[in-house]
Amino acid sequence: MNMDLNKNNREQWKSRSGFILAAIGSAVGLGNIWGFSYNLGQSGGAAFLLIYIICIILIGYPIMMAEFTIGRYSQSDAVGSFQKIAPGKPWVIGGFMGVFAAFFIMSFYPVIAGWVTRYFGVYLTGGFETSAENDFIGFISGTTGPLIWHFIFVALTTAIVFFGVQKGIEKSNKVLMPLLALFLLVLAIYSLTLGGATEGLRFMFSPTWDSLTNPSVYLAALGQAFFSLSLGMGALITYASYLKKENKLPGAAASIVGFDTLLAIVSGIMIFPAVFSFNIDPAGGTGLVFMTLPNVFIEMGRVGVIFGFLFFLLLGVAALSSAISLLEVPVSYIMRRLNWSRRLTVIVVGLAIYIIGVPVALSIGPLSHITIFNLGLMDLAEYVSFNLLLPLGGLIISLFVGWGWNKSAVLRESDFGQSVVGTIWIWLLRVVSPFIIVLIFLSSIGIIGS
Ligand code: TRP
Repeated sequence: MNMDLNKNNREQWKSRSGFILAAIGSAVGLGNIWGFSYNLGQSGGAAFLLIYIICIILIGYPIMMAEFTIGRYSQSDAVGSFQKIAPGKPWVIGGFMGVFAAFFIMSFYPVIAGWVTRYFGVYLTGGFETSAENDFIGFISGTTGPLIWHFIFVALTTAIVFFGVQKGIEKSNKVLMPLLALFLLVLAIYSLTLGGATEGLRFMFSPTWDSLTNPSVYLAALGQAFFSLSLGMGALITYASYLKKENKLPGAAASIVGFDTLLAIVSGIMIFPAVFSFNIDPAGGTGLVFMTLPNVFIEMGRVGVIFGFLFFLLLGVAALSSAISLLEVPVSYIMRRLNWSRRLTVIVVGLAIYIIGVPVALSIGPLSHITIFNLGLMDLAEYVSFNLLLPLGGLIISLFVGWGWNKSAVLRESDFGQSVVGTIWIWLLRVVSPFIIVLIFLSSIGIIGS
C-alpha cells in the first residue's frame, strides 16, 4: 500500500489518489467481468441489469459512503471500528461477520482467479486452436490443473502482502485500470460486429416483464451489487481506516461506484453478443466468460492471441488487487487482536485460505459428487457469499450508521455536512436500503409474494 506511518504508528495512505486507486483496485476485479456476466446470464438479462443499477444507486453508493465514514473516523479494522464507535453494543457482529465472509469469499475467488492465470499461461504459449469450451471443461474437471493454478494465485497474493509491495500493484493500477477499461471497450466494439450482436444487446437491455416478478433475480442483482463494489464485509472500512482526515469522501465514492458499474456494463457488451454468436447458453454459469471469450480471440485470427494474452493479464492483475483487499480484512483484524506481525499473520491467513480453497477448486471435477442444498461446493460458496453474507453485512452497516451512531457526527464525518444530500443519504441508510434488502430476502425465501 502506498503508505506512511502516522503518529499512532498505524499505516496511512500517502495521498487521496492512493486511496481511490486502492479502492478501485478492490472494487474492479472478477466480479465485474466473470460475476456480472454469469449472474446476468443466469438471471435472464435486462431485468437483472435494471435491478442491479437500482441497487447500486439506492444501496451500493450509500453503503460505500457508510463504510468509508466508519473506517476513516475510527482508524481501525472491520471489528475494531464498531467497538470504537459503539463500545459494548451488538453492532460489532457486523465486523465479525466481515472477517468470516472474507474467508468464505477467499475460498473461491482465488480458484477462479487461478483459471484466469491459467488462461494467461495458455495465451503466453500460443493460445487455443479450436474449441475452447472443451478445453475449459477438460481443465476444470481435472485435479492437478485447478490445484496448481489456485496455488499460484494464492501464493502471488500472499507474497505481495508479505513483502509489502502492494503499493507497486496500486501504482501499476493507475495505468492498468484505464488500460483494462480501454481494452474492454475495444473488445466490446469488436463483439458488436459479430453475428449475435442484436440478440446480445436485446438480451442485455430489453427487459422481459416476467423476470421482474422472479424474486431470485432481485436477490442475484443485490448480491452482485455488493460483491462488485466490495461492500458488506468491511473491506472498505479497513481501507478507509488508512485514510487521513482531510480527504473528501462523497466524490471519491461516486467515482469508484461509477467506474466499477461502467466497466461491468461494457464487459457485458463485450460478452453477450459473443455468447449469442457462438451459440453458448447465457445461463451457462461460472464458466461463461471462460467459454465465450476464447472464441472471440480465435475469430480475430492471429492478433487474437495477443488480445487474449493482454486480456487475461489485465484481468489477472485486477483480480490480484481485489484479492489483496479481501486478505487485508482478516489480516488487519488478526494483527491487532493477537498482536502478531504483519508477516506472520499473512502467512497463517494465506495458508488457511489455500486449504479451504482446495475442496472448492476440486468441486467441479473429482469432488463434484459433494452437494449441499443441491449445490456443488463452489456454487454454494458463491451463493452464500453473494446472496447472504454480503447483503446481511450491508444491512448491519446501513442500520449502524443510520441509527447506531449520532446523526450529526455521521454527517460531519462523512463530509456531507448538514446538506440536503446528507439528509437523503441518512434516510437511505435508515430506511430505504434496509427495507429493500429485507424485502428481497423475505421474498426470495418465499415468505412474501408468490
Ligand atoms: N469487488 C471485487 C470484484 O468485483 C471482489 C472483492 C474485493 C470483494 N473485495 C471485496 C467483494 C470485499 C466483496 C467484499 O471482483
